[in-house]
Parts: sequence; structure tokens; C-alpha cells
Amino acid sequence: MNIVNKPNAPVLDSFWMPFTANRQFKQAPRLLVSAEGMHYTTDDGRKVLDGTAGLWCVNAGHGRERIATSVGEQLMRLDYAPSFQMGHPIAFDLAERLAEIAPGEGDATLDRIFYTNSGSESVDTALKIALAYQRAIGQSSRTRLIGRERGYHGVGFGGISVGGIVNNRRVFSQLPGTDHLRHTHDPERNSFVKGQPEHGADLADDLERLVALHGAETIAACIVEPVAGSTGVLIPPKGYLERLREICTKHGILLIFDEVITGFGRLGTPFAADRIGVVPDLMTTAKGLTNGTVPMGAVFASRTVHDALMHGPEAAIELFHGYTYSGHPAACAAAIASLDIYQQEGLFTRAAELEDAWQTAIHGLKTKPNVIDIRTMGLVAGIELSPRPDAVGKRGYEVFLDCYQNGVMVRVTADTIALSPPLIVEPDQIEQIAATIGEALDRVG
Ligand SMILES: Cc1ncc(COP(=O)(O)O)c(C=O)c1O
Repeated sequence: MNIVNKPNAPVLDSFWMPFTANRQFKQAPRLLVSAEGMHYTTDDGRKVLDGTAGLWCVNAGHGRERIATSVGEQLMRLDYAPSFQMGHPIAFDLAERLAEIAPGEGDATLDRIFYTNSGSESVDTALKIALAYQRAIGQSSRTRLIGRERGYHGVGFGGISVGGIVNNRRVFSQLPGTDHLRHTHDPERNSFVKGQPEHGADLADDLERLVALHGAETIAACIVEPVAGSTGVLIPPKGYLERLREICTKHGILLIFDEVITGFGRLGTPFAADRIGVVPDLMTTAKGLTNGTVPMGAVFASRTVHDALMHGPEAAIELFHGYTYSGHPAACAAAIASLDIYQQEGLFTRAAELEDAWQTAIHGLKTKPNVIDIRTMGLVAGIELSPRPDAVGKRGYEVFLDCYQNGVMVRVTADTIALSPPLIVEPDQIEQIAATIGEALDRVG
């Protein structure tokens, strides 16, 4: 079809775009050509305020020179080195930095770091570590993996098997031996709540139901997002994650927090585990780890989990798993520079400082047309719209387009507008995000 939209514009045919309506997009492409601070610049020279930190990843804002310089210098010093039976210092330096901010105490500290290249790989890695751990402690009948309805854990076969989004699952076969908790979205009891809803801690007891159904001795791990992002920003009810932790501990099930979006300051603490005060056994991260600049993920494992695998002959490889790019030098440099920025600019706690202003601005949209719920926590928000009778997701898409045309980038999942601006956002930019969405809602109707 060889579509070209503007002079000097790229030819669009060959790039098969991910999670995109390719044919629709290529008829009217939205191209971003540069970015700085809180803004993207489009190919027609417009500035667009980034209300989504890219895809929940550019936590320190765009165009951070320190990261670019560190990556460039690292590539000139050591561009690539394998991490299989070889090492390079920066991968150990980064692991030490991550260990310093890892949640937990004593043997429960999550300070053993396994590198990946994405959130999906972090999830599959964590699931495999969970299986390897159970086998190492003599519990090899524990092979079942529990996820949750409306969970998103990336697109690997492990991730879609424990995930709970029908469109990501229906076409693809999945791992045998998975099951799902009920999701926690309960608009009857919780709507327009600022922060964690009051009702729903009891939904964690669903894990007891699955234990009763399958037998605890068959279950290796349970994975949840502390705040579910991709299915419309679902905030955990008060007490829910605490209860899930208790049930997992009681039954010898490893608890995995998927912190791919909540990690690195999104909720006003380094990790959601810190904000909620619940320490999982494994924690998956990516995205904000490098401020979105270089693909990288990391699984944080407790010492207990890690040490259980450090047995057998010393010459034996303990975990048959890893990636060519695990601990890539350029990614490590980007991550260390990102951590420096987060720590020096106080970005791990900035979402907490802005939370009141954020909630007030976003909840101010409550009376706009077709808004049926608003959910907020840290610097995250979900604004749920009633779907058009003829097509789920259509109204949401129209609002997204209207906002984009009027200078603010938001994200929509079905009919929920999901917001997660870079943590450097200023109060007047929060107002701009809310005002632009408000006007779009009025226009779209
Ligand atoms: C909670 C969660 N887990 C995993 C992933 C997958 O990450 P990636 O797209 O880097 O594979 C995402 C991506 O949005 C996510 O939100």
C-alpha cells in the first residue's frame, strides 16, 4: 500500500506496529519526532504534553542529558560483554544500587537482582524462578501459577497465561496449570474513590478458594500487579494485598508483585511494596528502571528465594535461564544514571507530594459527560467512561484523539483514560491535563 503522508515523511508499510490498529493508523499517522522534559514534538511541529510518561516509563521526563551521556560513554568504554560465565563491573554496580532500594528486611529483602530486557521477560523470569525455587526446596509438585482476572503481565506465553485480558489470550494457546483470582474492580461498592477503596479486602480470600480447589501443594506462585494499569487503573482495596500476603505465606505460595508500572516512584515511594507495606517474594520491574531510554527489566528476588537455588556442586549452573542482553552495559549505564536522577531530584517521593493536587484536578472531571468512575493513587489516574452502545472503546479513542489534537497525550484502554505523567510534572501542567480532558469530554459527548 506504500502510504506516504507528508513530504519527507517515512514510508509506513513495513513497520508492523504493536498493539496498534495498523491500517487505521497508517491512514492518519501520529508521529512524534523529538521530546524534551514534559513534552513531545510532533512531525508537524506541535508540542504535546506527555500525560502518560510515554508508556508509563519516562518517570524523570524526556531528553535527560545525563542518561544519554552515560550511555554514550559506556558504549565507547565497553559496548557489549556477555553475562554468561563472564561479568562486567557495571552490571554488579547497578545490582548493588538496586539492592540498596529493595524492599524487605533480613532474608526477605528483595536484593538479589536478575536482569531482563522488558517487563514481559521479567514476568516470565519471575515465574520460572518461582518454579525453580519450589523444586529446589523439595516442593516439585508445586507447578501451578495463579494470576488474576484483568491482570496484565506482558505478552510472553507465561505472562498471557497468568494475565487476564481476553484479547491477549483468545488467539494464543497458554501454559497448562494456571488459574485466576477474581479481579478487584467493584464499582457498586467503590466509585470515585481517592486512593485505596474501603471495600474488597475479602476478595483476596479467592486465593483460599483456589487452594481448596487445587490443593496448596500444587501451587507455586501467585502474581498480581499492586495497581493494575493496563486494564483501566484498578487500585487495590485497603487490606487486600496484606491479606494476599498472609494467605500466600500460610500455604507456601510465593507472592510476586508485578511492579513494571508501579516501580520507580509512580506511587510516591520507590515501589508499591513500600507504599502498601507488603513485601512480596519476587518483584518484576522494567520501564522506569532506565527512564524508558534503553530496554531493560529486572527481577528482584528475596534472599530466601535466591539462596535456595545456591546449592549443589559449585561448578553447576544454578538457574538455566538468561538473555544475551541480561545486564547489557548500555542498559546498566542508563539505569544507574536514572537512579541518580530519581534520587537527586527527589522523584521517588514527588508523586506523594503532588498527590493531593493530582486527585483534586482529576476528580474535578467527575461531572463531565459520560464519566462513570475516577480512580487515583500516586501519580496514576483512571477515568472510566460509559462505552458507546455500538462499540466498546470508541468513545475512549475519540477522547484520546481530541486530547492529542489539543496538545495532551493520554492513553486509553477500552473506555478508560489512563494517566501517568512523568514525575517531574508541574502543578500547572496537571491543570492543563485535566482541562484538556474536560474539554475533550464536552466535545466528544
Ligand atoms: C504490569 C505490567 N507487566 C508487564 C508489562 C510488560 O512490559 P513490556 O511491554 O516491557 O514487555 C507491562 C507493560 O505495560 C505491565 O504494565
